[in-house]
Amino acid sequence: MNSRLNLLAPEVRDNPHPYLAELRRSAPIVQVDPGGIWAVTRYDDAQYVLKSTQLFSSEALRMAMDPDWLGRPNPIAESIIFLDPPKHGRLRTLISRAFTPATLTQLEPRIRAVAEGLADRMMEERKVDFVDGFAMPIPATVISWFLGLDPSLRRHFKRWSNDIAAIGGALPGDTELMEQCRRTVEEMEQYLQGVLADRRKTLGDDMVSDLIRVRVDGESLTDRELMGFLFLLLVSGLETTANLLSQSARMFAMYPELLPRLRENRALIPRFIEETLRVEPTAVATLRTCTQDVTVAGVNLPQGSMVLVSLASAARDEKHFPDADRFILEREGTPSLSFGHGSHFCLGSMLARLEARVALEELVSRVDRLELRTERIEWTPSLTVRGPQSLPVELYPV
Ligand code: HEM
Repeated sequence: MNSRLNLLAPEVRDNPHPYLAELRRSAPIVQVDPGGIWAVTRYDDAQYVLKSTQLFSSEALRMAMDPDWLGRPNPIAESIIFLDPPKHGRLRTLISRAFTPATLTQLEPRIRAVAEGLADRMMEERKVDFVDGFAMPIPATVISWFLGLDPSLRRHFKRWSNDIAAIGGALPGDTELMEQCRRTVEEMEQYLQGVLADRRKTLGDDMVSDLIRVRVDGESLTDRELMGFLFLLLVSGLETTANLLSQSARMFAMYPELLPRLRENRALIPRFIEETLRVEPTAVATLRTCTQDVTVAGVNLPQGSMVLVSLASAARDEKHFPDADRFILEREGTPSLSFGHGSHFCLGSMLARLEARVALEELVSRVDRLELRTERIEWTPSLTVRGPQSLPVELYPV
């Protein structure tokens, strides 16, 4: 019997790219493990799945996020990412009103102050864990501003976001994990309900207040929708952005000429971010379920099949990205699918780009050379998000 590729096997997690390249060549739509899900690996097919919301549903995934063993409804199951049209459109219109460019402009100086402080501290220490010292605290701080949570709670964010993400993948025997997830959902709801109650009493100029205020055609967000969105922010905005910064550090270590180039011309930083997101996307895949029997590129996918759209593979499809394995700062042309495509396109993409740009501006002005201090990186055990769990580095000042 032909053995199926297991996307969670240690060697695939270490470096998925050669395995995905082989699938693109020989079996662009094929069942993989865990669970025999259908992997879609070519750019055009990935784009087709993401834009065909009638055929490929996001809503069916809600069930996995809302298992009976949780003993209470999981608020994230009510969030925008698990909705199909037309419900999705209504919620997205409401939420988009609070995610405006004006909000981002106000954030820039605050993000810079945080990045400056962290970068200065790293330069004093020189040998640091880049994830703990820089990559994680920046998005964690921004999310705590958004959620209106006490900064001291930031230390829980990674655990919270890991536990929420783990709910969909918990297996029947994982009683310890289930207990931990149950506690986390309860804990998060408690804190976030406190925030919502406070804001309802006195609206401020923060994002939660904006979300409470927002009205479209007389409609506003319900309490459950608000709570669902706050849960989603933590899961979608934290690790993805932290991993983008960690992958940027890896690129600096792999291509030492980049740091001086970006310092001399900081206008190249946005290009650097796009190319980093292409060669090492941090949202490596997203999932859908077939609403009916459907044929994609000649392969029949039965109704109910789960489909994994490999954004990491699409980003190295030679048809769209010549010399796809190479990091090319000057690359132009087809946009990668790193922030998704179609109606669920990432609502935080401008924010993530802003955080990364400001953080990297502060980094390149201080660091001349960055070396990895480990041969082996431990990667997140996830099908959809990829990044280093820790990244020991040594920094050499300008
Ligand atoms: C580098 C960082 C990020 C990456 C790579 C990323 C990637 C993605 C991707 C691929 C999707 C589409 C998922 C799908 O189609 O199923 C998505 C959706 C989403 N992202 Fe991001 N994201 C990032 C940062 C953020 C941030 C900072 C926030 C907010 C604070 C955010 C909020 C969201 C939301 C709310 C959605 C759901 C949109 C919808 O369903 O309409 N993301 N993201």
